[in-house]
Amino acid sequence: MTRVELKTTSMAVGGEAVAREDSGRVVFVAGALPDETVVVELSEEKTSFARGSVVDVVVPSPDRVEPPCPNVARGCGGCDWQHIEEDAQRRLRRGIVADVLARAGRVTDPQVAPGAPLPAEGLRTTVRGHADADGRFAFRRRRSHDLVAVDSCLVAHPAVNEIIASSTFAPGSEVVIRVGARTGDRMVVSSPKRGRTRVPEGVTAVGGDELEKGHRAWIHEQVAGRTWRVSAKAFFQASPEGAEALVAATQELIDQHAPGAERVVDLCCGVGLFAGTVGQGTSVVGVERSAASVADARQNLGDLDARIVKVALARWRPSPADVVVADPARSGLGKEGVAAVVGTGAGLCVLVSCDPAALGRDAGLLADAGYEHVGSRVVDLFGHTSHIEVVSGFMKHADVGRGAG
Ligand SMILES: C[S@@+](CC[C@H](N)C(=O)[O-])C[C@H]1O[C@@H](n2cnc3c(N)ncnc32)[C@H](O)[C@@H]1O
Repeated sequence: MTRVELKTTSMAVGGEAVAREDSGRVVFVAGALPDETVVVELSEEKTSFARGSVVDVVVPSPDRVEPPCPNVARGCGGCDWQHIEEDAQRRLRRGIVADVLARAGRVTDPQVAPGAPLPAEGLRTTVRGHADADGRFAFRRRRSHDLVAVDSCLVAHPAVNEIIASSTFAPGSEVVIRVGARTGDRMVVSSPKRGRTRVPEGVTAVGGDELEKGHRAWIHEQVAGRTWRVSAKAFFQASPEGAEALVAATQELIDQHAPGAERVVDLCCGVGLFAGTVGQGTSVVGVERSAASVADARQNLGDLDARIVKVALARWRPSPADVVVADPARSGLGKEGVAAVVGTGAGLCVLVSCDPAALGRDAGLLADAGYEHVGSRVVDLFGHTSHIEVVSGFMKHADVGRGAG
């Protein structure tokens, strides 16, 4: 394979550093930071760009560190930013968000601030991996489909690590371990089948095939003073602390730009996280297409003035609202989601994005629809990775400046 020495300049959305060859061709470099000189082995070459990974660091960035997790040296590809100092990771995430808002979202001088501080390690209560041929828990090797078995994972909650260390799973299965950090509930889902899964006493083990046939299994978690039922097939944020940081960032935008909101819509509401927190005390409508999530949301929000509509976003007939909180899947809101926001007539849209490229596209679509970016907070939910979670506020033009302050 071709090796080239390159100087990197910036960080791209996918977490790879960007360099340029003398020819002008852009190279995306995994394992590098901005402002380094590195030797890169190219793995993909096209006319307009190439991709590769660092094989030698000639001039390191001051932000380069030894990966704190021993699994990195063994080839584990679970975290792509272990070589970057933690504060620098946070700065880089904010930089990527500011860049996409400016370029794709056409936001002038985007205001991007950090969310509530979260530790990079020991936090994640949901971890997805695979079982190797011996039934041990494993992650994919970097840029490969091969597996690397691990005894523990640096970013996982201790209750997840206890399951990793003392379980065996159906060889070749996909394994999702999910725990309630504040309730002690623990669950393992193996797909396609549970097979000969052996887990510690008290851990619920279920097969993907059983869930498909209608078997129900769930854990409970506590977030923001409420208890949440989370079914095996329902989405939930990666940690209770992370969920609280997202709620806090959302509440701050509402307090600042739509104080006294009486009607809230929670688009893509999952098990009802935003409806049951920032929507408390308002008349709230949740929109969600997953049956398992809808059942959980109805159970979780039974004590509130909440209505959960089971429908895909594109088919929802918007209800009037003062505030929309939208937390779509990685692909973002898109045209149909933005049309749903517009249809509510809301003065404030709080967009929770888990993919910066989608945020850029959605910010552009919201701008076209008359919504102006009023600030973003990056919540570092996924330490040691380039994965970005960001809460952004967009105000309808006529309403900009009408909030508190
Ligand atoms: C990132 S999760 C957010 C869930 C929730 N807001 C939370 O914080 O826990 C996105 C949710 O959107 C739902 N979803 C994805 N596409 C959808 C669509 N087209 N229409 C309605 N819901 C959708 C998924 O089922 C999932 O529950």
